[in-house]
Amino acid sequence: MKAYKTTYICQNCGAQYAKQQGKCNACLAWNTIVEEVTQKKANLSSPTWETFSYQHSTTPSHPKKLHEITHDAQNKIICTDKEFNRVLGGGIVAGSLVLIGGEPGIGKSTLLLQIALNLGTYKVLYVSGEESEAQIKMRASRMNHTSDNCYILNEISLDSILQHAVQLRPDIIVIDSIQTIYTQQIESAAGSVAQVRAATAILMHYAKTTNTSIFLIGHITKEGTLAGPKVLEHMVDTVLQFEGDRHLTYRIVRTIKNRFGATSELGIYEMRHNGLQEVSNPSALLLSQREGHLSGIATGAFIEGNRSLLVEAQALVSPATYGTPQRATTGFDSKRLNMLLAVLEKRARLRLAIHDVFLNIAGGIKVEDPALDLAVCIAIMSSLKDIIIPTNYCFAAEVGLGGEVRAVNRIEQRIAEASRLGFEQIFVANHNYKSLNHKNYTININSIETINEVVNYFI
Ligand code: TYD
Ligand code: MG
Repeated sequence: MKAYKTTYICQNCGAQYAKQQGKCNACLAWNTIVEEVTQKKANLSSPTWETFSYQHSTTPSHPKKLHEITHDAQNKIICTDKEFNRVLGGGIVAGSLVLIGGEPGIGKSTLLLQIALNLGTYKVLYVSGEESEAQIKMRASRMNHTSDNCYILNEISLDSILQHAVQLRPDIIVIDSIQTIYTQQIESAAGSVAQVRAATAILMHYAKTTNTSIFLIGHITKEGTLAGPKVLEHMVDTVLQFEGDRHLTYRIVRTIKNRFGATSELGIYEMRHNGLQEVSNPSALLLSQREGHLSGIATGAFIEGNRSLLVEAQALVSPATYGTPQRATTGFDSKRLNMLLAVLEKRARLRLAIHDVFLNIAGGIKVEDPALDLAVCIAIMSSLKDIIIPTNYCFAAEVGLGGEVRAVNRIEQRIAEASRLGFEQIFVANHNYKSLNHKNYTININSIETINEVVNYFI
């Protein structure tokens, strides 16, 4: 009989199997299932953090009525970084567990060190299992930040991290990264799903019982493997995701899940030589610096979280050299692009079936808001017919399968942003147009009902 128990765990989604198999039935990923030792150690050689006496020792739980529970609404730590406050739903909630995921090299360590060094009187314990103390110091001096209340610890054993935490009593702990940490309670290697899960569960318990906010950094590869922090998403309070091309300077932090605020909030940063800089006017950044006039570009207004932003849809339509025309997109759903191409072909009689179509959303941002449909259609039409869309025109409407132009939510906010950035014409759906109070706007608002109508307007 085996002295230990093993399970086959999918490193992508955490699904467990009794035997090895090539494909995960749960997330359909291939070659992600790995054998892991999951049994707890029978005799713990070293004590766990729970055995240490500290002031916040757990009291037996008992059910309470809602009015008996007190909570302090102001119990949020407000950072100097406004973008970070925004993605967290107003500030760092005491006792919260926040997971920050992103590809290696995107700037996770930079952001959290920067936040840690700017927290003023709050005590922070920054634990790094990846970089030495000297390396962290070098990073801090590169960013020109320093703090008297930030403690750096180079450690990978969770048990000793918690020993230090118990003595130091920090308000905030940063774990960089959760994949490097191991707990002796579980016998598998650091970075395995079992370890990552067990370590997170212990940290969760610590955060809730001591009211300490904990940030976990997690690496995700393009395939989502390497003990994908995806398995942790349901355990933590908030999940933030770093996006953007690490070869470009702009970084977007997106809220995927938040128990304390709205999801799909965006924080936008620029990676400079001295750390991440907040971007206060993101629309100006997302609209690429257009020199001269080019066909194939149209500006659309979309909403992320509470913000309205303007972005350029750039299309390149050229005759297909091979039998099957190519379609490629960046930042836009490819299925949706195919749908819009079919609508343009059938309803606006544009001969797209014999053309390659490439679509790019400028600024490296991913847009899911259907309000960008109209701008995408116009960009495609503009490239196909080689017609230049004036740079002061903007579009905000969804396009339906019948070629009808549909209303979108929060149109006032979109128009206000376009107006603020100096656009002179905006095209909206007729239904949205009728609901507006036109006295409020200086921008010229055009009402449209079908895609055919707007295409004919430009041709
Ligand atoms: P890092 O935060 O280490 O990424 P992660 O923790 O997500 O793996 O750093 C990301 C990149 O940013 C790194 O290649 C160097 C660069 N960088 C700057 O451009 N400016 C800076 O001030 C710092 C600290 C890093
Ligand atoms: Mg790092």
